[in-house]
Amino acid sequence: MDNQELIAEAIKNRRTFAIISHPDAGKTTLTEKLLLYSGMINTAGMVKGRKGRKAAASDWMAMEQERGISITSSAMQFSYKGITINVLDTPGHEDFSEDTYRTLTAADCAIMVIDASKGVEKQTRKLFEVCRFRQIPVLTFINKMDMPAREPLDLMNEVENVLQIHSYAMNWPIGVAKEFQGVVDRSGNECLFFTKTSIGGSQKADITKYSLNSPETKNKIGNEQYAALLQELDLLNMAGNVFSEEDFLAGKVTPVFFASALTNFGVEPFFDAFIHLAPCPHSRIATRLDGSDIEIDPVTTPFSGYVFKLQANMDRRHRDSMAFIRICSGLFEKDMVVKSHRLGREIRLSRPHGMMAGERTTLEYAYPGDVIGVINPGIFAIGDTISVTGGFNYKPLPQFQPEIFAKLLSKDVGKRKSFDKGLLQLVDEGAVQMLKTLDGEIILAAVGGLQFDVMQYRLKDEYGVDTILTLLPYQCSAWIIGDLKTFNKTTTSLIVLDRQDRPMVLFNAQWDKQYTITQNPKHQLVDVLF
Ligand code: G4P
Repeated sequence: MDNQELIAEAIKNRRTFAIISHPDAGKTTLTEKLLLYSGMINTAGMVKGRKGRKAAASDWMAMEQERGISITSSAMQFSYKGITINVLDTPGHEDFSEDTYRTLTAADCAIMVIDASKGVEKQTRKLFEVCRFRQIPVLTFINKMDMPAREPLDLMNEVENVLQIHSYAMNWPIGVAKEFQGVVDRSGNECLFFTKTSIGGSQKADITKYSLNSPETKNKIGNEQYAALLQELDLLNMAGNVFSEEDFLAGKVTPVFFASALTNFGVEPFFDAFIHLAPCPHSRIATRLDGSDIEIDPVTTPFSGYVFKLQANMDRRHRDSMAFIRICSGLFEKDMVVKSHRLGREIRLSRPHGMMAGERTTLEYAYPGDVIGVINPGIFAIGDTISVTGGFNYKPLPQFQPEIFAKLLSKDVGKRKSFDKGLLQLVDEGAVQMLKTLDGEIILAAVGGLQFDVMQYRLKDEYGVDTILTLLPYQCSAWIIGDLKTFNKTTTSLIVLDRQDRPMVLFNAQWDKQYTITQNPKHQLVDVLF
């Protein structure tokens, strides 16, 4: 086999995806079940760092904790039924940040986990928007069917209305809450009945299959419920959407699966459908230096990729920093020399790391779809394209309007140098954004909850600087597109410049933002820069 055949074969059997959800919908549980069903772990309920994660303010603060199989790694690789799976970590909890959005751009597909009693929640909506903009196909996993849930049709309608995407039920639940006993696989009119084999779903659930029309099915469900089920299925067949893989890959329809990650009911059929439906790594559109588009084929283009995440000081003993690179084309080989397009110089990618179920391992080879972590002695920035050939750049990563703002000072003026260094490092990593008022004053901004706590913790822990943080009263923001001179702002809002000197406006309240939009019909206020 030559290299291209090798790459083509590797790609065919690879799925790189992220799980998006609102906190508590069941992302961790589903990830863990993927490990259980792939044989990576023997018993579910042992993903380390999970309980700890809830207690710790962030993954960073839990860094000292032993790293076992942890979903806090940037990406995890393992095999499921002969397919190489790369799961990207998109923190959705206390440490929700721009990292979460950026990581999503490195996925070829997303699984959207929805709590069946809650429907589509806020963070899911935001993350779904990124998928839409990046044309990432989304599978929907409606979780917790073993608990009292909203009507399945109601949930499907909500997905359609709130997210503006067609939905198609691939399976249909048989019963709900305590009566949730199985699903109808609509493609073959087959009923899959699940049986618990352990408490808390620590072991795989058994599956018994009967045809929808079989006496066994009728028997198991009972006459009344069976009639109701047939009626629902008829309704779906008559009035529901149609499903095509083409529409799914184009992001026009999301296949919906009803299940319970905790009890393992519906988990295996979902994973099986997932590896069948999810796309393998495919071509990406990049921009040539003259601004024209170029299609980068994963097989025929020599190695290329981009940096989607930076993390400093992962290994304290070495005070190293890691750049996480999504490989988009070609074969990656250890120690290869690539061009950094931004710096215009060559870089040797030595000591590359992969994440084999949480264990950092040194890689010899990697393929499109894989994520590698390389030591970053300050040469990589977020969004950097690297390649063997040079001459093009992958799309810039999206930037989101920050929602929390603060001023930060070093307690000890004598530590100013370390403070500046640490702050710049954290800003470069994209953990926080640095804004400047028109008078040159620095304001820090973040997308999600505890980013500032993490920043203060890291400044103290890694740079030895105690800081004082003063939160500012702004609650939302937007980039201003248009002439700043004619922009009408309210007295309480503030104009600032981002790191690329693009003007932004910070608002005290959402209504202030809405009012300002109406007052500036000639300007555009944008929440996301794609
Ligand atoms: P997240 O990563 O999306 O935040 O959610 P996670 O998997 O941590 O699940 C949140 C809570 O919901 C957990 O309970 C988990 O056990 C529960 N859960 C997940 N999937 C299901 C399901 O299918 N059915 C039911 N009934 N519960 C489910 P917890 O009590 O907060 O945590 P834990 O003590 O179980 O770890």
